[in-house]
Amino acid sequence: MCNPNYLTFFEVNKARWNELVAHHVKSDFYDLHGFLNGKNTLTNIETKEIGNLLHGKLVLHLQCHFGLDTFSLERFGASNVIGIDFSEKAIEFALQIKKQIKSNADFICANIYDLPQILSARDQFDIVFTSYGVLCWLPDLKEWAKIISLFLKKHGFFYIVEDHPFATIFENDPNSPELKVQYPYFQSNEPLQLENDFSYATDVKLENKITYEWNHPLSNIFNVLMEAGLTIEFFHEFPFSSWKRFPFMEKNHDGFWRLTNSPYSIPLTFSLKTHKK
Ligand SMILES: C[S@@+](CC[C@H](N)C(=O)[O-])C[C@H]1O[C@@H](n2cnc3c(N)ncnc32)[C@H](O)[C@@H]1O
Repeated sequence: MCNPNYLTFFEVNKARWNELVAHHVKSDFYDLHGFLNGKNTLTNIETKEIGNLLHGKLVLHLQCHFGLDTFSLERFGASNVIGIDFSEKAIEFALQIKKQIKSNADFICANIYDLPQILSARDQFDIVFTSYGVLCWLPDLKEWAKIISLFLKKHGFFYIVEDHPFATIFENDPNSPELKVQYPYFQSNEPLQLENDFSYATDVKLENKITYEWNHPLSNIFNVLMEAGLTIEFFHEFPFSSWKRFPFMEKNHDGFWRLTNSPYSIPLTFSLKTHKK
């Protein structure tokens, strides 16, 4: 069950995500048109790392936004995928796309902390998947890891590809000329209150500017998953990002953004695969 202490933060964040859906579905970033014409939205990282493991599998996709990756997991051969997101607008839009492309994917509109009350413990999956821009919205990673483990079958795996927590310590103001440390790496219980007029995928000025976010250090991500009974299979770090995190980044032909004015190679993305014994 959602911890009542977090409810106000969730409500504020959800209002922003609900507002974003209408803009994101029209954005070049999400390229809905390309998707409807058969494009797969999984990046090279997850395609290479788990693309060949999806065939015939039951997948639970956490924080699915309006579903393009959920449908893409299905296009990779998953037999059934359930996407979860707490934004009503995102799930409404995912259901419209489902009709349009005649997909078998299912969607549940819920806060992921409420999943144990919504799915039965007998609903177990071969794979739990989550990607890009998910952890900062979650105040309690211990509970998150327990939920992942609860819904994984024995021998099933959990896979995450995500913004690297180290990258989140730097200022990402569109006018900042270089990397400058602005945020803490180590998490406190209180979220950061951030204000941002735009999102990573739209230049439209938003009404819901405030968000509450938590930065989770890598050690915490590893420890909660291991404490929940999962075994680490691999962990990879990448010096590029799935979105233009800093103004001085350039997009490569592989779709990832790289630092152009920095002599340093720093981790901007990570992937992690764990399994349940
Ligand atoms: C950056 S998006 C995930 C992006 C996804 N990889 C994509 O590009 O389609 C983050 C998603 O997390 C959802 N979200 C945030 N907090 C959540 C929570 N507590 N429970 C469920 N969904 C949540 C938001 O509604 C949003 O759709």
